Amino acid sequence: MRLLFIGDIVGSPGREMVQSYLSKLKSKYQPHVTIVNGENAAAGKGITEKIYKNLLESGVQAITMGNHTWDKKDIFQFIDEATYMVRPANLPPGTPGKEVVFVKSNGKEIAVINILGRTFMQPADDPFRKIDELLKLAKKRTNIVFVDFHAEATSEKQAFAWYLDGKVSAVVGTHTHVQTADNRVLPNGTAYISDVGMTGPYDGILGMDREAVIKKFLTGLPVRFEVPKSGPTQLSAVVIDIDPVTGKSKQIDRVQINDDHPFFS
Ligand SMILES: [Fe+2]
Repeated sequence: MRLLFIGDIVGSPGREMVQSYLSKLKSKYQPHVTIVNGENAAAGKGITEKIYKNLLESGVQAITMGNHTWDKKDIFQFIDEATYMVRPANLPPGTPGKEVVFVKSNGKEIAVINILGRTFMQPADDPFRKIDELLKLAKKRTNIVFVDFHAEATSEKQAFAWYLDGKVSAVVGTHTHVQTADNRVLPNGTAYISDVGMTGPYDGILGMDREAVIKKFLTGLPVRFEVPKSGPTQLSAVVIDIDPVTGKSKQIDRVQINDDHPFFS
């Protein structure tokens, strides 16, 4: 089973990259399932129902979220009906939305989980204990478990992946928006990368207009961060090969598309 995961889609430049390249990526890699992180898809913060539906229509099977899940108020109008959106699981009981989403492919189910780190992040419940609880539920249905760990600190991401080695098919990091070169399969079959990287503006800073970010560092004054409307763009992703019976991964490869790494079909 092959899975394509596209990292944090940032604003309209990110959405346009998905529209431009998803079919080409599918032709090249032939994934059975495509998952994206959509927490920055609406102007860099949050997601709207229209964007959620457009992503599904363009061939995405599940959408993971993160710390910006609630930034567009629209979310509360549709999240409970959003069958293929998975929000961070380690939030207080009663939080709207789904903690696990099951996607079907070739008669197999893939459990998709999104969970927040706590180091340098807003308060959340313990991701380690929460994942243990979720795995008890998920494993009743499938051996194939994909985890998007939305976290800031590389140490926490590595700890989470090693903690889960052999228990899940993949732990991929999101949130820091810069693709790391440490993709590997851990000894017991869990594919890992500290961060998949983001999909959006290539010449910004983490996808935001760089002038505003530089001003913030120079002055320390409050600055409004916006997604640049024009300029070069990039797409960041990983392709993961999973044994459909055991749920163990065999390979994880990085994908980058930008001016410095043009797409070859
Ligand atoms: Fe984030």
